[in-house]
Amino acid sequence: MDITVSTPGKIILSGEHAVVYGYPALVAATNKRCELHYQGTAEPEWSADWLSQFASLKAFFAAWEARPTTQHLQLRSHVPVGRGMGSSAACSVAAAAVWQSLQGKTFSPEAINQLAYQLEVLQHGTPSGVDNTIATYGGALWFRKETPTFSIFRQVEMSSSLETLWLVDSGRPKESTKEMVTMVAEQRQQRRTHYDQLFRQMEEVTRSWLRWVLGEETDSVELLRTNHRLLVELGVVSPQTQSLIQAIEKSGGAAKITGAGGAKQGSGYLLVMHPDEAKLQSVLKPYARSGERLELGGEGVRIE
Ligand code: MEV
Repeated sequence: MDITVSTPGKIILSGEHAVVYGYPALVAATNKRCELHYQGTAEPEWSADWLSQFASLKAFFAAWEARPTTQHLQLRSHVPVGRGMGSSAACSVAAAAVWQSLQGKTFSPEAINQLAYQLEVLQHGTPSGVDNTIATYGGALWFRKETPTFSIFRQVEMSSSLETLWLVDSGRPKESTKEMVTMVAEQRQQRRTHYDQLFRQMEEVTRSWLRWVLGEETDSVELLRTNHRLLVELGVVSPQTQSLIQAIEKSGGAAKITGAGGAKQGSGYLLVMHPDEAKLQSVLKPYARSGERLELGGEGVRIE
């Protein structure tokens, strides 16, 4: 048996962290993909390599009464690891798709997504499910978690104004996604009213983003700046990243984190808007960073 599946990474345009508490998020797949290749018998034997990267998969396999041993399972990912671009979810969805295929089941994105969500729970504790859902369906999604087991989402047609977006690496966060989500949860417990107010403001911003993506609203730079301020208040953007974003803003652009962020050092990849490419690159130079064009709307999980 020879199976290769691929899945996209993601960018959260708006609503990260708030989405864990039932507020909406707007998320898009990128053109950076994760590829998982399995070669062997229909009886799956998973490589030690794979398991060492994702120790929590052990629990998953135990739960599904499958025993990992060895065979050819190769992971190749162009999705940057640990930088807010959905590398974990892309791998979970790929694993779920290979696993489904090995079971001889018909390709079902819905079943893959459910299985991948369980992997994400093992990995991250209380994920919203937005990352695995975008890695499964691709494109761009409006997503909301209504209860721990029930989410609603819908594809969003993106307008061409998204062509002015850039990606800039602010550095690998010291913290994992799980640690960032836990940190926000603890802060929220201490300052419930304040955090819920922040989340409500974020929802407003996410709705404005939706209108912008649909081509119904134009002041996207101001929107991105407001979004960033709310994330700073949430405590998920490090001082180092804040100063990088401040420099981008001063030169006429705007930027925000794209995933869980990072409070101590790097905060992962930034989503950047800038009207002038040369200006952007020169602002980034002293920080030893550069901007790359961001392509959104990548296809969801597929069997290659
Ligand atoms: C991580 O990509 C997004 C978070 O909102 C966590 C989640 O939704 O599970 C920070």
